[in-house]
Amino acid sequence: MPTPSPARVHDFTVVSNEPMARDIYALTVRAPKLAQAIKPGQFVNIAVPGNAASLLRVPLSYAAADPAAGTIDIWYAVVGDGTRRLSQMQPGATSTLLGPGGRGWTVPEGCRRALLVAGGIGVPPVVCLARELVSAGIDFDACVGSACADTLVGPAELEELGAGEVRISTDDGSLGLAGFCTDPAAELLARGGYDYVATCGPEPMMAKVAAAAQAAGVPCEASLERMMSCGFGACNTCAVETTHGMVGACMCGPVFNAEEVVW
Ligand SMILES: Cc1cc2nc3c(=O)[nH]c(=O)nc-3n(C[C@H](O)[C@H](O)[C@H](O)COP(=O)(O)OP(=O)(O)OC[C@H]3O[C@@H](n4cnc5c(N)ncnc54)[C@H](O)[C@@H]3O)c2cc1C
Ligand code: FES
Repeated sequence: MPTPSPARVHDFTVVSNEPMARDIYALTVRAPKLAQAIKPGQFVNIAVPGNAASLLRVPLSYAAADPAAGTIDIWYAVVGDGTRRLSQMQPGATSTLLGPGGRGWTVPEGCRRALLVAGGIGVPPVVCLARELVSAGIDFDACVGSACADTLVGPAELEELGAGEVRISTDDGSLGLAGFCTDPAAELLARGGYDYVATCGPEPMMAKVAAAAQAAGVPCEASLERMMSCGFGACNTCAVETTHGMVGACMCGPVFNAEEVVW
């Protein structure tokens, strides 16, 4: 593991915290030094007040950072106690977060066109990457999938950023193509013209995307989620099996070369 961790504890203030889809919130926090340091694909580990018995921070990716305003945008799904308490934090509320965590996306030199594939609440780090691609003059297409239309986030932002095309799919067919976003991703990869694939979402989805990218001979990176107790390399709860052994997602990831992950 790289040591020491790049993460430091930062104070933050909630700027806004509003629902953006069913059980999904858009949170903007002010943390000026972190907003200047964090890179796409890295994560933050938030201490959420309100439960003295809970010592663990909540690890979350981010969708955008504005170094000038000193703010970071986070999109999160309410799934348990920590994220429920986070959804109750009002503008002006304060706490601390640890960041920037881990290793982000590494777009290959000379990349001209990328394919981004995101499922569910795996969308935020992919939207963040899209912004970086745009500023580097790299074209991209995207496939975004969700269980249903109510929980879909990301296509509007990706289109606004200038995606060549955005293919939407929902498991129940309530919007876009019925089925998983791995199908349109495989179709686009078979069409060719990509130099890089980036994916984040449920692990079986990423495994399929990684296999399709490998078959097409295109380098692929995947952002993996693991339970994380410390977020800075001390506890070993975030192990990922790779072709060169077990490594910690919080320091060696969360973004990995997809060919090195044992899926
Ligand atoms: C690097 C990283 C980036 C992440 N980015 C985002 C993001 O941008 N948006 C978002 O909504 N979520 C993200 N997650 C997942 C998020 O951390 C969990 O949903 C959150 O920790 C759940 O906390 P809780 O206290 O609400 O739920 P708990 O009560 O702890 O658990 C509720 C459910 O969530 C599962 N869970 C808990 N922690 C994790 C975890 N770390 N990873 C996966 N599942 C978990 C539990 O197994 C359980 O099924 C990310 C996780 C990691 C590791
Ligand atoms: S979360 Fe503790 S080592 Fe990764």
